[in-house]
Amino acid sequence: VLTSLRARPILDSRGFPTVEVTATTADGALLRAASPAGASTGAHEAVELRDGGPAFSGKGVDGAVRSVDVHLAELLVGPTWSSLEDADAAMAELDSTQGYASLGANAVVAVSMVLARGFAHAAGMELWEWFAAHTGSAPLLPVPHFNVLNGGAHAANDLDLQEFMIAPVGARDEAEAVAMGAEAHHALGALVRERYGTAGLGDEGGFAPALADPREALDLLMEGMERAGLVPGREEMAIALDPAANGFHRGGGLYRVAGRDMDREQLANLYTRLLGDYPIRSLEDGFAEDDLEGWRVQARELGGRVQLVGDDLYVTDPVRIRDGAARGLSDAVLIKPNQIGTISQTLAAIRTAREASMACMISHRSGETWDDFIADLAVGTGVGQIKAGAPARGERVAKYNRLMGIALAHSELPYGLS
Ligand code: PGA
Ligand code: ZN
Repeated sequence: VLTSLRARPILDSRGFPTVEVTATTADGALLRAASPAGASTGAHEAVELRDGGPAFSGKGVDGAVRSVDVHLAELLVGPTWSSLEDADAAMAELDSTQGYASLGANAVVAVSMVLARGFAHAAGMELWEWFAAHTGSAPLLPVPHFNVLNGGAHAANDLDLQEFMIAPVGARDEAEAVAMGAEAHHALGALVRERYGTAGLGDEGGFAPALADPREALDLLMEGMERAGLVPGREEMAIALDPAANGFHRGGGLYRVAGRDMDREQLANLYTRLLGDYPIRSLEDGFAEDDLEGWRVQARELGGRVQLVGDDLYVTDPVRIRDGAARGLSDAVLIKPNQIGTISQTLAAIRTAREASMACMISHRSGETWDDFIADLAVGTGVGQIKAGAPARGERVAKYNRLMGIALAHSELPYGLS
Protein backbone atom coordinates (compact mmCIF):
# COMPACT_ATOMS: atom_id res chain seq x y z
CA VAL A 1 0.00 0.00 0.00
CA LEU A 2 1.38 3.38 -1.04
CA THR A 3 0.93 6.21 1.47
CA SER A 4 2.29 8.91 -0.82
CA LEU A 5 3.33 9.41 -4.44
CA ARG A 6 5.10 12.55 -5.60
CA ALA A 7 7.15 13.65 -8.59
CA ARG A 8 9.65 16.40 -9.34
CA PRO A 9 11.69 17.46 -12.34
CA ILE A 10 15.37 16.49 -12.29
CA LEU A 11 18.00 16.94 -15.02
CA ASP A 12 18.92 13.98 -17.20
CA SER A 13 22.44 13.30 -18.51
CA ARG A 14 21.92 15.71 -21.43
CA GLY A 15 20.83 18.47 -19.05
CA PHE A 16 17.15 18.34 -19.97
CA PRO A 17 14.35 17.84 -17.45
CA THR A 18 12.99 14.38 -16.71
CA VAL A 19 10.63 12.94 -14.10
CA GLU A 20 11.74 11.54 -10.74
CA VAL A 21 9.08 9.83 -8.63
CA THR A 22 9.20 9.22 -4.85
CA ALA A 23 6.72 7.03 -2.99
CA THR A 24 6.32 5.89 0.60
CA THR A 25 4.69 2.68 1.80
CA ALA A 26 2.62 1.87 4.89
CA ASP A 27 5.57 -0.05 6.38
CA GLY A 28 7.89 2.90 6.00
CA ALA A 29 9.80 2.17 2.79
CA LEU A 30 10.99 5.04 0.60
CA LEU A 31 10.90 4.15 -3.10
CA ARG A 32 12.38 6.15 -5.99
CA ALA A 33 12.66 5.93 -9.76
CA ALA A 34 13.47 8.23 -12.65
CA SER A 35 12.51 8.19 -16.33
CA PRO A 36 15.19 8.09 -19.02
CA ALA A 37 14.72 9.81 -22.40
CA GLY A 38 15.75 8.88 -25.94
CA ALA A 39 17.08 11.09 -28.74
CA SER A 40 16.78 8.71 -31.69
CA THR A 41 13.28 7.70 -30.63
CA GLY A 42 11.12 5.39 -32.71
CA ALA A 43 7.96 6.79 -34.31
CA HIS A 44 5.83 4.14 -32.57
CA GLU A 45 7.08 4.73 -29.02
CA ALA A 46 4.90 5.68 -26.05
CA VAL A 47 4.56 9.47 -25.87
CA GLU A 48 6.37 11.69 -23.39
CA LEU A 49 4.50 14.69 -22.02
CA ARG A 50 6.66 17.79 -22.62
CA ASP A 51 5.61 21.33 -21.71
CA GLY A 52 6.60 23.13 -24.91
CA GLY A 53 7.37 26.85 -24.73
CA PRO A 54 10.76 28.54 -24.66
CA ALA A 55 12.29 26.95 -21.54
CA PHE A 56 14.56 23.94 -22.10
CA SER A 57 13.71 23.92 -25.84
CA GLY A 58 10.18 22.91 -24.90
CA LYS A 59 11.37 19.86 -22.97
CA GLY A 60 10.00 20.85 -19.54
CA VAL A 61 8.17 18.15 -17.57
CA ASP A 62 5.94 20.21 -15.26
CA GLY A 63 2.87 18.67 -16.90
CA ALA A 64 4.19 15.13 -16.39
CA VAL A 65 5.01 15.96 -12.75
CA ARG A 66 1.40 17.16 -12.31
CA SER A 67 0.16 13.88 -13.82
CA VAL A 68 1.88 12.05 -10.97
CA ASP A 69 1.08 14.47 -8.16
CA VAL A 70 -2.59 14.84 -9.07
CA HIS A 71 -3.97 12.00 -11.20
CA LEU A 72 -1.71 9.04 -10.49
CA ALA A 73 -1.46 9.79 -6.76
CA GLU A 74 -5.25 9.88 -6.54
CA LEU A 75 -5.48 6.59 -8.40
CA LEU A 76 -2.72 4.65 -6.68
CA VAL A 77 -2.32 5.92 -3.11
CA GLY A 78 -4.50 4.06 -0.58
CA PRO A 79 -5.80 0.88 -2.20
CA THR A 80 -4.03 -2.47 -1.93
CA TRP A 81 -2.91 -3.54 -5.38
CA SER A 82 -2.81 -7.30 -5.82
CA SER A 83 -0.23 -7.22 -8.60
CA LEU A 84 1.95 -4.93 -10.70
CA GLU A 85 -0.18 -5.95 -13.67
CA ASP A 86 -3.34 -4.66 -11.91
CA ALA A 87 -1.79 -1.33 -10.94
CA ASP A 88 -0.31 -0.81 -14.42
CA ALA A 89 -3.67 -1.70 -16.00
CA ALA A 90 -5.37 0.92 -13.82
CA MET A 91 -2.95 3.56 -15.17
CA ALA A 92 -3.68 2.42 -18.73
CA GLU A 93 -7.40 2.69 -18.03
CA LEU A 94 -7.00 6.21 -16.66
CA ASP A 95 -5.22 7.27 -19.86
CA SER A 96 -7.15 5.89 -22.81
CA THR A 97 -4.95 7.67 -25.39
CA GLN A 98 -2.43 5.77 -27.52
CA GLY A 99 0.92 5.50 -25.73
CA TYR A 100 -0.02 7.42 -22.55
CA ALA A 101 -0.07 10.72 -24.45
CA SER A 102 -2.39 12.31 -21.90
CA LEU A 103 -0.62 11.44 -18.60
CA GLY A 104 2.76 11.22 -20.33
CA ALA A 105 4.77 8.01 -20.68
CA ASN A 106 7.59 9.78 -18.81
CA ALA A 107 5.25 10.03 -15.79
CA VAL A 108 3.79 6.54 -16.17
CA VAL A 109 7.07 4.63 -16.56
CA ALA A 110 8.68 6.14 -13.45
CA VAL A 111 5.56 5.34 -11.43
CA SER A 112 5.51 1.79 -12.77
CA MET A 113 9.20 1.40 -11.80
CA VAL A 114 8.39 2.62 -8.30
CA LEU A 115 5.49 0.15 -8.12
CA ALA A 116 7.80 -2.74 -9.14
CA ARG A 117 10.22 -1.68 -6.38
CA GLY A 118 7.24 -1.60 -4.01
CA PHE A 119 6.22 -5.17 -4.86
CA ALA A 120 9.82 -6.35 -4.43
CA HIS A 121 9.98 -4.59 -1.04
CA ALA A 122 6.66 -6.14 0.05
CA ALA A 123 8.00 -9.58 -0.91
CA GLY A 124 11.20 -8.93 1.04
CA MET A 125 13.27 -9.38 -2.10
CA GLU A 126 15.86 -7.49 -4.07
CA LEU A 127 14.39 -6.11 -7.28
CA TRP A 128 16.20 -8.64 -9.48
CA GLU A 129 15.06 -11.51 -7.24
CA TRP A 130 11.48 -10.31 -7.52
CA PHE A 131 11.74 -10.15 -11.33
CA ALA A 132 13.07 -13.71 -11.39
CA ALA A 133 10.27 -14.96 -9.12
CA HIS A 134 7.56 -12.94 -10.86
CA THR A 135 8.51 -14.07 -14.37
CA GLY A 136 9.68 -17.59 -13.50
CA SER A 137 13.10 -16.85 -15.01
CA ALA A 138 16.51 -18.23 -14.08
CA PRO A 139 18.56 -15.17 -13.05
CA LEU A 140 21.69 -14.53 -15.06
CA LEU A 141 24.36 -11.81 -14.97
CA PRO A 142 24.22 -10.28 -18.47
CA VAL A 143 27.01 -9.60 -20.96
CA PRO A 144 27.42 -5.81 -20.96
CA HIS A 145 27.58 -4.07 -24.35
CA PHE A 146 29.68 -0.92 -23.91
CA ASN A 147 29.02 1.82 -26.45
CA VAL A 148 32.53 3.27 -26.77
CA LEU A 149 32.29 5.09 -30.14
CA ASN A 150 29.31 7.34 -30.81
CA GLY A 151 27.81 8.70 -34.02
CA GLY A 152 24.39 9.41 -35.50
CA ALA A 153 21.97 11.43 -33.38
CA HIS A 154 24.24 10.99 -30.33
CA ALA A 155 27.31 12.85 -31.59
CA ALA A 156 28.37 15.93 -33.54
CA ASN A 157 30.63 14.02 -35.97
CA ASP A 158 29.74 12.76 -39.48
CA LEU A 159 29.59 9.10 -38.49
CA ASP A 160 26.18 7.88 -39.68
CA LEU A 161 26.16 4.63 -37.72
CA GLN A 162 25.09 5.48 -34.17
CA GLU A 163 26.67 2.95 -31.79
CA PHE A 164 29.89 0.92 -31.84
CA MET A 165 29.83 -1.41 -28.85
CA ILE A 166 32.22 -3.95 -27.36
CA ALA A 167 30.91 -7.00 -25.50
CA PRO A 168 33.15 -9.18 -23.29
CA VAL A 169 31.37 -12.43 -24.16
CA GLY A 170 34.35 -14.49 -23.01
CA ALA A 171 34.75 -12.87 -19.59
CA ARG A 172 34.70 -15.23 -16.61
CA ASP A 173 32.34 -13.07 -14.62
CA GLU A 174 30.64 -9.68 -14.46
CA ALA A 175 33.52 -7.93 -12.68
CA GLU A 176 36.00 -9.12 -15.30
CA ALA A 177 33.59 -8.07 -18.07
CA VAL A 178 33.31 -4.55 -16.68
CA ALA A 179 37.08 -4.33 -16.20
CA MET A 180 37.66 -5.47 -19.80
CA GLY A 181 35.22 -2.86 -21.08
CA ALA A 182 36.81 -0.11 -19.00
CA GLU A 183 40.38 -1.04 -20.05
CA ALA A 184 39.41 -1.11 -23.73
CA HIS A 185 37.65 2.23 -23.31
CA HIS A 186 40.81 3.80 -21.82
CA ALA A 187 43.05 2.39 -24.56
CA LEU A 188 40.62 3.61 -27.21
CA GLY A 189 40.55 7.07 -25.61
CA ALA A 190 44.34 7.31 -25.79
CA LEU A 191 44.29 6.24 -29.43
CA VAL A 192 41.58 8.75 -30.31
CA ARG A 193 43.56 11.55 -28.64
CA GLU A 194 46.74 10.58 -30.52
CA ARG A 195 45.05 10.28 -33.88
CA TYR A 196 42.36 12.97 -33.79
CA GLY A 197 43.82 15.36 -31.26
CA THR A 198 40.71 15.34 -29.10
CA ALA A 199 38.52 12.88 -27.31
CA GLY A 200 35.12 14.55 -27.60
CA LEU A 201 32.24 12.52 -26.26
CA GLY A 202 28.80 11.50 -27.52
CA ASP A 203 25.62 11.37 -25.45
CA GLU A 204 26.27 7.86 -24.14
CA GLY A 205 29.80 8.61 -22.98
CA GLY A 206 31.57 7.03 -25.95
CA PHE A 207 34.24 8.87 -27.93
CA ALA A 208 33.09 10.89 -30.93
CA PRO A 209 36.14 11.72 -33.09
CA ALA A 210 35.73 13.41 -36.47
CA LEU A 211 35.33 10.37 -38.67
CA ALA A 212 32.63 9.24 -41.08
CA ASP A 213 33.65 5.83 -42.43
CA PRO A 214 32.32 2.85 -40.42
CA ARG A 215 35.49 0.90 -41.25
CA GLU A 216 37.66 3.60 -39.75
CA ALA A 217 35.55 3.37 -36.60
CA LEU A 218 35.78 -0.43 -36.50
CA ASP A 219 39.57 -0.37 -37.06
CA LEU A 220 39.84 2.04 -34.16
CA LEU A 221 37.82 -0.32 -31.95
CA MET A 222 39.99 -3.29 -32.90
CA GLU A 223 43.17 -1.35 -32.20
CA GLY A 224 41.81 -0.12 -28.89
CA MET A 225 40.98 -3.65 -27.76
CA GLU A 226 44.37 -4.98 -28.85
CA ARG A 227 46.21 -2.13 -27.16
CA ALA A 228 44.38 -3.05 -23.96
CA GLY A 229 45.73 -6.60 -24.33
CA LEU A 230 42.33 -8.06 -25.20
CA VAL A 231 41.57 -10.61 -27.90
CA PRO A 232 38.88 -9.42 -30.32
CA GLY A 233 36.64 -12.32 -31.38
CA ARG A 234 33.01 -13.35 -31.43
CA GLU A 235 33.54 -15.65 -28.42
CA GLU A 236 35.95 -13.30 -26.63
CA MET A 237 35.68 -9.53 -26.95
CA ALA A 238 32.97 -9.13 -29.57
CA ILE A 239 31.64 -6.08 -31.38
CA ALA A 240 28.00 -5.03 -31.55
CA LEU A 241 26.60 -2.34 -33.85
CA ASP A 242 23.50 -0.20 -33.60
CA PRO A 243 23.44 1.73 -36.87
CA ALA A 244 19.99 3.13 -35.91
CA ALA A 245 19.20 3.28 -39.60
CA ASN A 246 16.23 5.65 -39.21
CA GLY A 247 18.91 8.32 -38.91
CA PHE A 248 20.29 7.79 -42.44
CA HIS A 249 17.23 6.41 -44.24
CA ARG A 250 16.37 8.86 -47.01
CA GLY A 251 13.05 7.21 -47.74
CA GLY A 252 11.96 4.56 -50.20
CA GLY A 253 14.58 2.05 -49.08
CA LEU A 254 17.49 4.37 -49.90
CA TYR A 255 20.21 4.91 -47.30
CA ARG A 256 23.10 7.36 -47.20
CA VAL A 257 26.27 6.15 -45.44
CA ALA A 258 29.51 8.16 -45.44
CA GLY A 259 28.29 10.30 -48.31
CA ARG A 260 27.25 7.35 -50.50
CA ASP A 261 23.66 6.48 -51.46
CA MET A 262 22.82 2.81 -51.13
CA ASP A 263 19.77 0.72 -51.91
CA ARG A 264 18.70 -2.13 -49.64
CA GLU A 265 20.91 -4.74 -51.30
CA GLN A 266 23.95 -2.47 -51.13
CA LEU A 267 23.39 -1.71 -47.44
CA ALA A 268 22.94 -5.40 -46.62
CA ASN A 269 26.09 -5.99 -48.62
CA LEU A 270 28.01 -3.42 -46.58
CA TYR A 271 26.95 -5.21 -43.39
CA THR A 272 27.91 -8.59 -44.89
CA ARG A 273 31.40 -7.32 -45.69
CA LEU A 274 31.78 -5.80 -42.22
CA LEU A 275 30.73 -9.15 -40.67
CA GLY A 276 33.42 -10.84 -42.72
CA ASP A 277 36.15 -8.48 -41.55
CA TYR A 278 35.27 -7.80 -37.90
CA PRO A 279 34.02 -9.98 -35.01
CA ILE A 280 30.52 -8.51 -34.96
CA ARG A 281 28.02 -10.54 -32.93
CA SER A 282 24.99 -8.26 -32.96
CA LEU A 283 23.42 -5.77 -35.39
CA GLU A 284 20.56 -3.56 -34.18
CA ASP A 285 18.24 -1.49 -36.42
CA GLY A 286 20.32 -2.15 -39.53
CA PHE A 287 17.29 -0.92 -41.50
CA ALA A 288 14.70 1.78 -40.76
CA GLU A 289 11.65 1.10 -38.59
CA ASP A 290 9.11 1.29 -41.43
CA ASP A 291 11.25 -0.29 -44.17
CA LEU A 292 10.00 -3.84 -43.69
CA GLU A 293 11.29 -4.81 -47.13
CA GLY A 294 14.74 -3.74 -45.92
CA TRP A 295 14.37 -5.95 -42.85
CA ARG A 296 13.39 -8.87 -45.09
CA VAL A 297 16.47 -8.35 -47.26
CA GLN A 298 18.60 -8.15 -44.12
CA ALA A 299 17.13 -11.36 -42.67
CA ARG A 300 17.75 -13.17 -45.96
CA GLU A 301 21.34 -11.94 -46.36
CA LEU A 302 22.50 -11.92 -42.74
CA GLY A 303 20.09 -14.11 -40.76
CA GLY A 304 21.86 -16.75 -38.66
CA ARG A 305 25.29 -15.13 -39.10
CA VAL A 306 24.76 -12.33 -36.61
CA GLN A 307 22.13 -11.48 -34.00
CA LEU A 308 19.60 -9.16 -35.68
CA VAL A 309 18.03 -6.86 -33.07
CA GLY A 310 14.88 -4.75 -33.52
CA ASP A 311 14.74 -1.55 -31.47
CA ASP A 312 12.76 1.22 -33.23
CA LEU A 313 11.20 -1.60 -35.25
CA TYR A 314 9.44 -3.10 -32.19
CA VAL A 315 9.52 -0.30 -29.55
CA THR A 316 9.15 -3.01 -26.84
CA ASP A 317 5.57 -3.59 -28.03
CA PRO A 318 4.37 -7.22 -27.73
CA VAL A 319 2.05 -6.80 -30.74
CA ARG A 320 4.84 -5.49 -32.99
CA ILE A 321 7.25 -8.18 -31.70
CA ARG A 322 4.77 -10.95 -32.51
CA ASP A 323 4.26 -9.47 -35.96
CA GLY A 324 8.01 -9.21 -36.61
CA ALA A 325 8.51 -12.80 -35.46
CA ALA A 326 5.76 -14.03 -37.81
CA ARG A 327 7.45 -12.23 -40.71
CA GLY A 328 10.89 -13.52 -39.71
CA LEU A 329 12.36 -10.00 -39.53
CA SER A 330 14.82 -10.54 -36.67
CA ASP A 331 15.89 -13.00 -34.01
CA ALA A 332 16.28 -10.51 -31.15
CA VAL A 333 14.48 -7.63 -29.48
CA LEU A 334 15.79 -4.54 -27.70
CA ILE A 335 13.89 -3.90 -24.46
CA LYS A 336 13.40 -0.31 -23.23
CA PRO A 337 10.66 0.13 -20.61
CA ASN A 338 9.90 3.74 -21.52
CA GLN A 339 9.19 2.81 -25.14
CA ILE A 340 6.05 0.93 -24.10
CA GLY A 341 5.21 2.77 -20.85
CA THR A 342 4.90 0.27 -17.99
CA ILE A 343 6.99 -2.50 -16.46
CA SER A 344 4.26 -5.12 -16.82
CA GLN A 345 4.07 -4.38 -20.56
CA THR A 346 7.88 -4.60 -20.66
CA LEU A 347 7.71 -8.06 -19.06
CA ALA A 348 5.01 -9.02 -21.58
CA ALA A 349 7.35 -7.94 -24.38
CA ILE A 350 10.11 -10.19 -23.00
CA ARG A 351 7.64 -13.08 -22.65
CA THR A 352 6.41 -12.57 -26.22
CA ALA A 353 9.99 -12.54 -27.55
CA ARG A 354 10.79 -15.75 -25.67
CA GLU A 355 7.69 -17.49 -26.97
CA ALA A 356 8.97 -16.67 -30.45
CA SER A 357 12.48 -17.95 -29.54
CA MET A 358 13.90 -14.45 -29.87
CA ALA A 359 16.74 -13.18 -27.66
CA CYS A 360 16.37 -9.95 -25.66
CA MET A 361 18.82 -7.18 -24.84
CA ILE A 362 17.85 -4.81 -22.02
CA SER A 363 18.69 -1.17 -22.81
CA HIS A 364 19.14 2.26 -21.32
CA ARG A 365 18.30 5.47 -23.24
CA SER A 366 20.73 8.08 -24.51
CA GLY A 367 19.34 10.47 -21.87
CA GLU A 368 19.81 8.74 -18.51
CA THR A 369 19.72 9.30 -14.76
CA TRP A 370 21.11 7.82 -11.54
CA ASP A 371 18.49 5.05 -11.73
CA ASP A 372 19.96 1.54 -12.08
CA PHE A 373 16.57 -0.22 -12.51
CA ILE A 374 17.52 -1.88 -15.82
CA ALA A 375 20.44 -3.73 -14.20
CA ASP A 376 18.01 -5.60 -11.95
CA LEU A 377 15.60 -6.08 -14.85
CA ALA A 378 18.36 -7.72 -16.89
CA VAL A 379 19.58 -10.01 -14.10
CA GLY A 380 16.10 -11.04 -12.93
CA THR A 381 14.69 -11.83 -16.36
CA GLY A 382 17.87 -13.71 -17.24
CA VAL A 383 18.08 -12.39 -20.81
CA GLY A 384 21.89 -12.41 -20.80
CA GLN A 385 22.46 -9.07 -22.58
CA ILE A 386 22.39 -5.41 -21.55
CA LYS A 387 23.56 -2.14 -23.10
CA ALA A 388 24.05 0.92 -20.91
CA GLY A 389 26.56 3.07 -22.79
CA ALA A 390 30.26 3.60 -22.19
CA PRO A 391 31.97 2.33 -19.01
CA ALA A 392 32.34 5.97 -17.95
CA ARG A 393 29.98 8.83 -16.90
CA GLY A 394 27.91 8.53 -13.74
CA GLU A 395 24.56 7.68 -15.31
CA ARG A 396 26.13 4.82 -17.33
CA VAL A 397 28.36 3.32 -14.63
CA ALA A 398 25.39 3.37 -12.21
CA LYS A 399 24.07 0.37 -14.15
CA TYR A 400 27.40 -1.45 -14.47
CA ASN A 401 28.21 -0.86 -10.81
CA ARG A 402 24.84 -2.31 -9.80
CA LEU A 403 25.55 -5.40 -11.91
CA MET A 404 28.92 -5.79 -10.18
CA GLY A 405 27.25 -5.32 -6.80
CA ILE A 406 24.73 -8.09 -7.48
CA ALA A 407 27.56 -10.32 -8.76
CA LEU A 408 29.68 -9.68 -5.68
CA ALA A 409 26.88 -10.50 -3.27
CA HIS A 410 25.68 -13.54 -5.25
CA SER A 411 28.64 -15.49 -6.54
CA GLU A 412 26.27 -18.37 -7.30
CA LEU A 413 24.75 -16.45 -10.24
CA PRO A 414 26.15 -17.43 -13.64
CA TYR A 415 27.45 -14.86 -16.14
CA GLY A 416 26.95 -14.90 -19.88
CA LEU A 417 24.53 -14.92 -22.79
CA SER A 418 21.36 -16.90 -22.17
P1 PGA B 1 17.98 6.60 -27.91
O1 PGA B 1 19.08 5.67 -28.59
O2 PGA B 1 17.91 6.33 -26.47
O3 PGA B 1 18.48 7.98 -28.25
O4 PGA B 1 16.69 6.29 -28.62
C1 PGA B 1 19.36 4.38 -28.16
C2 PGA B 1 19.21 3.36 -29.26
O5 PGA B 1 18.92 3.68 -30.43
O6 PGA B 1 19.38 2.18 -28.98
ZN1 ZN C 1 18.84 1.39 -31.06
